[in-house]
Amino acid sequence: MNQNITSAKDPSKVCDLTNPIQKIVVSRGNPFAKLMIIGEAPGAKEEEIGKPFVGRSGKLLDKLLQNAGFNISKDVYFCNVVKCRPPKNRRPTKTEINENLPWLYQQIKLVNPRVIVLVGATALEAILKIKSPISILRGKWIDWDSKVVMPVFHPSYLLRNPSKEEGKPMDLTKSDFLKIKEKIDFL
Ligand code: URA
Repeated sequence: MNQNITSAKDPSKVCDLTNPIQKIVVSRGNPFAKLMIIGEAPGAKEEEIGKPFVGRSGKLLDKLLQNAGFNISKDVYFCNVVKCRPPKNRRPTKTEINENLPWLYQQIKLVNPRVIVLVGATALEAILKIKSPISILRGKWIDWDSKVVMPVFHPSYLLRNPSKEEGKPMDLTKSDFLKIKEKIDFL
């Protein structure tokens, strides 16, 4: 995580996605929270409102957190790996991710959360530097930079797989968030 934020070529730009008509979406929630949620990149709604996870995925994420007992505005800080919306909501490129990482590291340093939840494969790969299916690592605690992190399924995947049956992604994610609440209460 020892990257210098001043390494950006043009300090007024986060990365090549930054342009005058696009909003830079930084964060939502409590910057003193013990829990940080890191997603991939803003979508259309996030860009419109200027906050992460305020669209359909965000609403589901809020519900999962509330269901586990979290107070959304007090207990959680939300952000993304990439701060500007990629065209047509495509996945951010490796270059875009690398250009945004110093800003994310700075956010992590400033907020200093105890627990980080990596929402989806982009966040998992960007932070842990490993390429592993989320289905293998989800729900597992991993030590990272004197914090604990847990990958979980991305809520957009859950919206496409809404079955509430036992053992299905939605059910597994509900228990992941209960596990996260237990950990936060213990710290
Ligand atoms: N998906 C993300 O990964 N982040 C957002 O902010 C919204 C949707």
